[in-house]
Amino acid sequence: MIVDGPAICELINEYAERGLMLHRSLESVYTSLRDFHVAEQDGRVIGCVATHVFWSDLAEIKSLAVATKDRGRGVGRALVSAAVADARALGVDKLFALTYEVAFFAQMGFEPMERDALPEKVWRECIACPKFDACDETAMVRMLDTSDSER
Ligand SMILES: CC(C)(COP(=O)(O)OP(=O)(O)OC[C@H]1O[C@@H](n2cnc3c(N)ncnc32)[C@H](O)[C@@H]1OP(=O)(O)O)[C@@H](O)C(=O)NCCC(=O)NCCS
Repeated sequence: MIVDGPAICELINEYAERGLMLHRSLESVYTSLRDFHVAEQDGRVIGCVATHVFWSDLAEIKSLAVATKDRGRGVGRALVSAAVADARALGVDKLFALTYEVAFFAQMGFEPMERDALPEKVWRECIACPKFDACDETAMVRMLDTSDSER
């Protein structure tokens, strides 16, 4: 919902301040609001995730964040499931993430992949990242074809 924009932005940027995620402007949240799912509790946004389509067979799961005090209660898993369902509904069969949370994404059925296998356009927004020259995130992928089962 449009009213969630500022809360999504705040959640992401709290983690961005700690170097764990990329900052997002309120404008970028609004322009991709249709990519987002949020988790709410008592009318408060406690988590968010976005699914960004890059090409006919490729989408990114990004801007995944759960409020610090709400972590460890299955919210992250539910958000990943929502993003996977979105990608499946669109017919996209490859979902990737660039992340520091390798163990979490492994739990969610993602596997490490060669970063170089991702198309160049994936790296466009990285130009704004302070770690552009020394990115230490891991690329992980989950294939959503018929061999994939819900986790
Ligand atoms: C990563 C993050 C989204 C996980 O959300 P969460 O709500 O705490 O995760 P869940 O409670 O749904 O955990 C689901 C499973 O993953 C496991 N898990 C959660 N965080 C984990 C971690 N850091 N390492 C390993 N396993 C983890 C849980 O134990 C749980 O396993 P189980 O179902 O077998 O019990 C959350 O910690 C977060 O917002 N981190 C900071 C922002 C960030 O780094 N986002 C990723 C950007 S790509």
